[in-house]
Amino acid sequence: MINEDAPIGVFDSGVGGLTVAREIMRQLPNEKIVYFGDTARVPYGSKSRETVTRYTRQIVRFLRTQNVKAIVAACNTASAYALDEVEREVDIPVIGVVKPGAKVAAQTTLNGKIGVIGTEGTIASSIYSRYIKEIKPDTDVIGKACPLFVPLVEEGLWEDPVTDEITKRYLTELIDIGIDTLILGCTHYPLIRATIGRVMGDKVTLVNPAYETARELKRLLEGENMLSSRAAKLGDNRYRFYVSDGAEKFKHFANSIIKYGILSAKIIPIEDY
Ligand code: DGL
Repeated sequence: MINEDAPIGVFDSGVGGLTVAREIMRQLPNEKIVYFGDTARVPYGSKSRETVTRYTRQIVRFLRTQNVKAIVAACNTASAYALDEVEREVDIPVIGVVKPGAKVAAQTTLNGKIGVIGTEGTIASSIYSRYIKEIKPDTDVIGKACPLFVPLVEEGLWEDPVTDEITKRYLTELIDIGIDTLILGCTHYPLIRATIGRVMGDKVTLVNPAYETARELKRLLEGENMLSSRAAKLGDNRYRFYVSDGAEKFKHFANSIIKYGILSAKIIPIEDY
């Protein structure tokens, strides 16, 4: 029997998934969260499907030890490579960021041309295209890997001429193709949303899977009668953070994104799970 006041498990390859956790905190303020960031093994975006799936299984096993009632794969690459398999192996709801983002993009486009930007792994998997075409078969989905965005964001260059220049180089071909919708298919990209928006212009709608995933999670928990019935207080261990390395660096980055004052992040030996 699932306890509705149990926490939600959220995981990512590192800090980027905090953009998803932040949306869950905003949209579901009563919920507790256990976050795991795989800071020792980041990035996932350039690793193989097999490796990312193995990592994902270990993280799911760890989150199960925290008695979570549902799991959110905040990482696009893990959602793209591992989710289909892993969600079949557990008896609690597991949702990723790809399906919610794909659904909203399919509903948003008017001219049937959707761009997707993400890591090399997410773009190579073509998963956004697959889900979008299930909803709207005659859509053109154009993927573009943007591997430099993750380090730029992690260096804090959210508003910087270097980021402007790289963004132009990556996105000009999507502008030339005439997309009207662009999916920010990587955890880090919402943090440079303003730059991406400026480069794409106001005729292109940006879809943020982090936001859509929190909405989807709310619908799911409502549908299953699993929404927490009582407001979690900060002192209730409302938000707990675990990482596989570099707890101090994680804490510093997390505090620049999440405004609740993250007091600690604990290191756990993820390879043991
Ligand atoms: N979290 C990853 C994603 O959303 C980006 C960082 C990485 O490559 O691990 O795909």
